[in-house]
Amino acid sequence: MCCSVEIPEEEGDIGALRARGEVHLPVRILAPPQQRSMRKLREDFPILQQRLPGKPPVYLDNACMALRPAAVIDAITGYYREYSGCHGRAQHAFGAATTAAFDDARRTVRDFLGAADASEILFTRNTTEAINMVARGLDWRAGDVVLSSDLEHNSNLLPWQDLALRSGVEHRIVPTLPDTRFDMAAFRARLDGKVKLVSVLASSNLTGVSFPIADIVREAHRVGALVLVDAAQGVVGHDIDVGKLGVDLLAFSGHKALGPTGTGVLYARRDVQERLDGMLLGGETVTDTTYTGHTLGPAPYRYEAGLQNYAGIIGLGAALTYIQGVGQKRIAKRVLELNALATQQLGKLDRVEILGPADPAQRGGLFTFRVRGIAASDVAWLLSSGANIMTRAGKHCVHAWYNARGQDPAVRASFAFYNSPEEVDFFCWTVKDILRGYPG
Ligand SMILES: Cc1ncc(COP(=O)(O)O)c(C=O)c1O
Repeated sequence: MCCSVEIPEEEGDIGALRARGEVHLPVRILAPPQQRSMRKLREDFPILQQRLPGKPPVYLDNACMALRPAAVIDAITGYYREYSGCHGRAQHAFGAATTAAFDDARRTVRDFLGAADASEILFTRNTTEAINMVARGLDWRAGDVVLSSDLEHNSNLLPWQDLALRSGVEHRIVPTLPDTRFDMAAFRARLDGKVKLVSVLASSNLTGVSFPIADIVREAHRVGALVLVDAAQGVVGHDIDVGKLGVDLLAFSGHKALGPTGTGVLYARRDVQERLDGMLLGGETVTDTTYTGHTLGPAPYRYEAGLQNYAGIIGLGAALTYIQGVGQKRIAKRVLELNALATQQLGKLDRVEILGPADPAQRGGLFTFRVRGIAASDVAWLLSSGANIMTRAGKHCVHAWYNARGQDPAVRASFAFYNSPEEVDFFCWTVKDILRGYPG
């Protein structure tokens, strides 16, 4: 148990602690996920094993919130059950174990993203907070331009609208193609030396399309602009390597990546941090204070005010470890297969309109659709109340896109690798049943 742990000389070196067998950490994956079939991996998700009376849950709202494997739940509860303490130079065993596990999680995120240094990983509550940190903290000047696409989630739109209102920064919007793919020509036409930041999504939460980040970075860097990637939908099933892509800043949320709610990350490259102020000040951000001033601490701590969500971040580390165990390529292949199945069964129906590219291979795990003659909210309600199939209806926090086109809300089914082909079949069968029951 952790209580017998001596404080290691090298604080935070979980590897050394583990090697010496002196600490029992809660991050355990029972058998290597890469050796198990997708059907077997589904058993790792306790929520899917529930045997409730009535219809079993068919969870197709993964773009909102992923489910968690037992390894993540164990990591979280292990912190509370076994060693919950504060990070930092604590003179006791709980503190040492927390420090070790928290630092370990940061290194896991570093490796997951291909970042050069753990201090480039800043923990936040979610993607929204991470993007706001850039909008609030970068060295903006009146006349600067921030550029984003017309397909961004509200969390990558409102911070720039607000910045434009507050500080004379211009917010330029790049229109996407009619099927929502990125329009490189439109992007180039709006790039000039005034653009300080390009902030774009990695994958859309509306249609599932992915933007060509490497090309966007190359073009942006030609005019001296930084690139912030909203990777809220972009870290599961996609190999993101910030080093190889040359990305300057990147945000994602733990809860869309099998991790706990209330966890997020802002990757900020070392040189970019020199231009970025923290959004909050307080404990942890400073090394010393007087009644009239303070000395800011080093990154990442200067950006992480107050005690942190240790259990959550440790759970996030377990989630990313689990994802890598399964394999990004396997995950991508699986969700594409599921999406192809849905597209094949529903795509040709006269009353079903799919949003985004016709080819499911361009839509990742997202199947967003409208049914002629039935409101999206009714379709989602019928799926849920009749068959316990969980989807999401509405404007998916991309209201501006819908509003500019005068389009009605849609229903989004988002597939994860732990969904089964049988679930997708059942979803399609139920949509067809709704069509039969409610003639358009
Ligand atoms: C593309 C995209 N960006 C940003 C966000 C905001 O994420 P969060 O609510 O976790 O901050 C979401 C959430 O759905 C998203 O899908």
